[in-house]
Amino acid sequence: MRLIEKEIEGIFLNTIKNIYKEVDFESVQIQATNNEKFGDYQTNFAMVNSKLLKLNPRSIAQSILDNLEMNDIIEKLEIAGPGFINIFVKNEFLSEKIVKIGEENFEFDFIDRKGDVIIDYSSPNIAKRMHIGHLRSTVIGDSIKRIYKYLGYNVVADNHIGDWGTQFGKLIVGYNNWLNQEAYGKEAIEELERIYVEFSNRAEENPELEDLAREELVKLQQGDEKNSTLWKEFIRVSLDEYEKVYNRLDISFDTYNGESFYNDMMPGIIDLLKEKNIVKEDQGAQVIFFDEKDNLHPCIVQKKDGAFLYATSDLATIKYRKENYDINKIVYVTDERQQDHFRQIFKITEMLEWNEEKSHVWFGIMRFADGIFSSRKGNVIKLTDLLDEAVKRAYEIVNIKNPTLSEEEKSNIAEVVGVGAVKYADLSQNRQSAIIFEWDKILSFEGNTSPYLQYVYARVQSLLKKAKEQGIEDIGNKLNLIEASERNLALSLLQFPTIVISAANSNKPNLVADYIFETAKKFNTFYNAIPILKEENQELLKSRLLLAKKTGKVIKDGLELLGIKTVNRM
Ligand code: ARG
Repeated sequence: MRLIEKEIEGIFLNTIKNIYKEVDFESVQIQATNNEKFGDYQTNFAMVNSKLLKLNPRSIAQSILDNLEMNDIIEKLEIAGPGFINIFVKNEFLSEKIVKIGEENFEFDFIDRKGDVIIDYSSPNIAKRMHIGHLRSTVIGDSIKRIYKYLGYNVVADNHIGDWGTQFGKLIVGYNNWLNQEAYGKEAIEELERIYVEFSNRAEENPELEDLAREELVKLQQGDEKNSTLWKEFIRVSLDEYEKVYNRLDISFDTYNGESFYNDMMPGIIDLLKEKNIVKEDQGAQVIFFDEKDNLHPCIVQKKDGAFLYATSDLATIKYRKENYDINKIVYVTDERQQDHFRQIFKITEMLEWNEEKSHVWFGIMRFADGIFSSRKGNVIKLTDLLDEAVKRAYEIVNIKNPTLSEEEKSNIAEVVGVGAVKYADLSQNRQSAIIFEWDKILSFEGNTSPYLQYVYARVQSLLKKAKEQGIEDIGNKLNLIEASERNLALSLLQFPTIVISAANSNKPNLVADYIFETAKKFNTFYNAIPILKEENQELLKSRLLLAKKTGKVIKDGLELLGIKTVNRM
């Protein structure tokens, strides 16, 4: 089905084209008002085009009112202020649209969705446990993926793992000398982390260990069989561990092309940069200098000893993507500390005239308010521990609220609520702000939290179930919007697709979260104002059940865009 704004725009365009034949208008901005005083929707067309048409805005608005083409959508128009047009939509039309929610998909064919959107996210460094810092990249990236998919883009989810670099020389030395086989068998990554730390501690006293590590690294780079086997093993055990976290979070990738994948392409990048005169030799290294106005540090792409750097690998990655995908845009999700890195990369690609759209979607660091949990294990909080803790706490709450549920159902609800709460705590915030993680806040059944939203969803399901028990099997497909609270809710439900577009344009999942929260609140206002099941008029009763059902659908779809599941009871 078409977006409601698009339907209204169609009527305005026809009307306007009839009045002003000399100009070929292509679009009219139509916006939801969220305030009854200004109508359901509003347009500033008259003001925006007053110069072009050499007419004053109010008279343009008046002409539109006088010449509005016949239609079944608009109830009435009003002129407001300097020339806004307030648009009131017919109830029957709203009803028709709401009825289609969940039965027909929204049409997004007015968006340019050609090619692939590559989303580069999660991307942990091998041989390290996933910690709380990876949570943000992982869940924000996944939500952005879901948002683009919803809009009909072809999405490539790329886990750009850190699987190449100097740490492997050290790990190999550690593995050969201090590995505890038993611990490695049980918790491979933890043991790898331990030998890495052990290496650093020992190297402080025996600096010759660093030389040994370098030798092992060179051997690895030259394809030495034993070291290559070890390196592959480190990657495998790490990915096995990460996969457990991804599964639990319901997150998946299309490709896992890590840094090593691009290794052979690095010399070619240096050649290309030389050929285009972008790079300069500086004290034996290959360096790119930027204009003063760019306010960027010089970027080293090859060290004196021939080694390539993070920036080189990102340039090789873009080249590879250009050659292997039909890029619509590339979205990188990392923390705020990589802003300069990506500014450098984007500037260099500009010099190379690689003009595909790229965005660095950065986020603030997450911290704990609850010192106990963070200090217990030092400053690294394993993601699995974090999720276990959330689920444990969710279980306790469910157990109090609903002691009669079966054990299996309680655990299932606890998993959905706990994991959802962790994701929502992250996704509901403006991603650029720092987050303070507070258990009681994120697991609360009130306020802007996922348990609250999941609870509203469950409330809708229980309402529908009760209705069935009262003998109302078929709730039909007709809406009758009478009370203000019903109409407000209906309008809100129809804003969903537009919100998803804004979330994609700004790569901000929190816009979806805010929207679901607002909609859930409107549902509660409606639910509290109208004793739905007590209504004697069967038609009205069914209409209200239908509106509730559609609300449930929108909340579920919205949460799904955040990667959060729902349950029917909680
Ligand atoms: N592995 C990096 C890290 O943990 C993130 C990689 C981000 N993606 C990229 N193409 N640079 O910091």
